Amino acid sequence: MKLKKRKERVSENNRSIVLVTGGAGFIGSHIVDLLIQNNYEVVIVDDLSSGREENINQKARFYNLNITDQKALIEVFKQEKPDYICHEAAQISVSFSVRDPLFDAQTNILGSLNLLQCCLLNHKVKGVVFASSGGTIYGEPEHFPITENYPFRPQAPYGISKVAVEHYLDFYQKTYHLPYVALRYGNVYGPRQDPYGEAGVIAIFIEKMLKGEIPTINGDGEYIRDYVYVEDVAQANLLALKNMVKLSKVVREIEKNKEKEKEEDETKAKTKAETETETKTTPEPEPEPEIKLNGLNLGTGRGISVNEIFSLLKEIIKFPHPAHYGPPRAGDLRKNVLDCRLIKEVLGWQPQFDFSAGLEETVRWFKENIH
Ligand SMILES: NC(=O)c1ccc[n+]([C@@H]2O[C@H](COP(=O)([O-])OP(=O)(O)OC[C@H]3O[C@@H](n4cnc5c(N)ncnc54)[C@H](O)[C@@H]3O)[C@@H](O)[C@H]2O)c1
Repeated sequence: MKLKKRKERVSENNRSIVLVTGGAGFIGSHIVDLLIQNNYEVVIVDDLSSGREENINQKARFYNLNITDQKALIEVFKQEKPDYICHEAAQISVSFSVRDPLFDAQTNILGSLNLLQCCLLNHKVKGVVFASSGGTIYGEPEHFPITENYPFRPQAPYGISKVAVEHYLDFYQKTYHLPYVALRYGNVYGPRQDPYGEAGVIAIFIEKMLKGEIPTINGDGEYIRDYVYVEDVAQANLLALKNMVKLSKVVREIEKNKEKEKEEDETKAKTKAETETETKTTPEPEPEPEIKLNGLNLGTGRGISVNEIFSLLKEIIKFPHPAHYGPPRAGDLRKNVLDCRLIKEVLGWQPQFDFSAGLEETVRWFKENIH
């Protein structure tokens, strides 16, 4: 990797510098575009393993490197002195993570740790926004929509790595006062999504249907997900950066209150135990899971099935054929719908694109760019 020597950067024109890892990818490139529109200076770190050169915004400074490359990443931090980090770079395939958990952990855990260590270099990084995954970290819950305090129950190494990074972020915040927000994305869709992988059913269907090919629906098509449009996701990243300072204060306040409540509960429990003479007849209630406020669900709160996606696309594309049905995919979770009230409360974010509007935009982009 070649790094040009630069003068010390103290944000030209006082603009904040944001380092976007994975900024040549699907979601990362939309974040980069929005940040540049909002007058941020943007630095991209991406190894182009799944990202594309044509996604790279010309106004961003681009470093083609792997986030696990410690020496090279330190050099980038020294030269660019980023104020904020949006961390999108990752191995994104759940099934690949099952086949090769070691590779997944190398990129998704060790790469993230490498990045966090760089945030502790001499200059002060003001905060990290992390792309977590609301679709995988909670496993298969019994209640919907899923709130942030639902316990982590990842079923595959990909989800395990996202949970691990959330815990590391919490550690860095507590130990080194590095603020962070983990945005727990639902199923993101929109322009620039790769139709060739396994990740995006919408991209795969659109690509096939525009070519006149019949897509295959796995299983009965009643697999429900919370689909969120990529521009809405970029907007949430921007709001997270803008509110980082405020947010970490809110978090500290909530943590203080929680400590106080805990102390009060302990005192109450002690008094109760001292006065109690009889043996207990009723079992103790289950303790409430702890709210991890720096993790915010990012979805729409609306569940959509694969059958619905197909019929909406059929209408938009005017596709004449019915879908094929194939065997279900092993390990696919049945349902995921996220409760997104907290992100609205904390960041004032809510989706601007309803599902059909987002689908129409996506179809338009695929028509212009793939055909
Ligand atoms: N797409 C979704 O529905 C979804 C849902 C939940 C979470 N996420 C998370 O959002 C982030 C972005 O996902 P995406 O859908 O845009 O995927 P993507 O594959 O388009 O983007 C990932 C980017 O990271 C780059 N990258 C991968 N490994 C790297 C490495 N070791 N060093 C440097 N760059 C590397 C790739 O080249 C690519 O540009 C990921 O962290 C993913 O886990 C995505």
